[in-house]
Amino acid sequence: MTRIRPSIQPSDGPPVIAIDGPSASGKSSTAAAVARVIGAIHLDSGALYRGLTAVALGLADRSPRAIIRAAEQRGLELRQVAGELVPFLDGRDAEPRIRNPDVTDLVSEVSAQAPLRDWVNARLRKAVQGTRPVVMDGRDIGTAVFPDARVKVYLTASPETRARRRLIQRGVAPDHVRLAAAAARLAERDRLDSCRTVAPLRQAQDAVLLDTTGMGFEEQVGEIAGLIRRRLPEVRFPDNI
Ligand code: CDP
Repeated sequence: MTRIRPSIQPSDGPPVIAIDGPSASGKSSTAAAVARVIGAIHLDSGALYRGLTAVALGLADRSPRAIIRAAEQRGLELRQVAGELVPFLDGRDAEPRIRNPDVTDLVSEVSAQAPLRDWVNARLRKAVQGTRPVVMDGRDIGTAVFPDARVKVYLTASPETRARRRLIQRGVAPDHVRLAAAAARLAERDRLDSCRTVAPLRQAQDAVLLDTTGMGFEEQVGEIAGLIRRRLPEVRFPDNI
């Protein structure tokens, strides 16, 4: 584990907890559980990139300008539903649509485009308001979107573990052939996300590295919640962390 000085975030907003890491490292489910434990809002930045990709799939012209125009016409946004921020498209919960393999296959290509990243980032920054801490997960939250986040975690796991978790999450039996195919797809997405010019996937210098290979879900949630409590001693959290 790398532990360097905590970065200080400007005092005019709620504390941001950035959780970044490669594909299928468990960021979103961990971030959601951590947010529940500490009474924070969870924001999955990947959902907006996936939403833009779902929009792009319906277009012949996939230029950033055309994608943004169509996304705004179709009302792509994160809405608060029962305390959770849920991606909406065409007035409906877009969660099932954005997890489809056609979206997953194209999302790295779409999200490499700078104007689309600016569009997403403006929405992420606007969502951080009020007093409740925000747990945000993605690829570049601690490096580019909130470089002054008070707590940064870089979550990873071995390629095999990640491939296995992704198959189980999709309800598919993780046999050898499927594991190899899933691992190859994740590796390709990580390659594209790490090699792009704008805000590539990398561990922030001041992020705590958490390798969850062989770790249970509760354990990793507990580790991060404990870290947050130590880093943010002035914040009053529920008694259960
Ligand atoms: O859940 P999973 O690990 O499959 O990925 P995700 O968080 O839903 O993100 C999907 C894709 O969006 C990533 O592969 C990246 O290409 C892109 N993304 C990004 O570029 N920057 C972010 N902050 C979040 C996601």
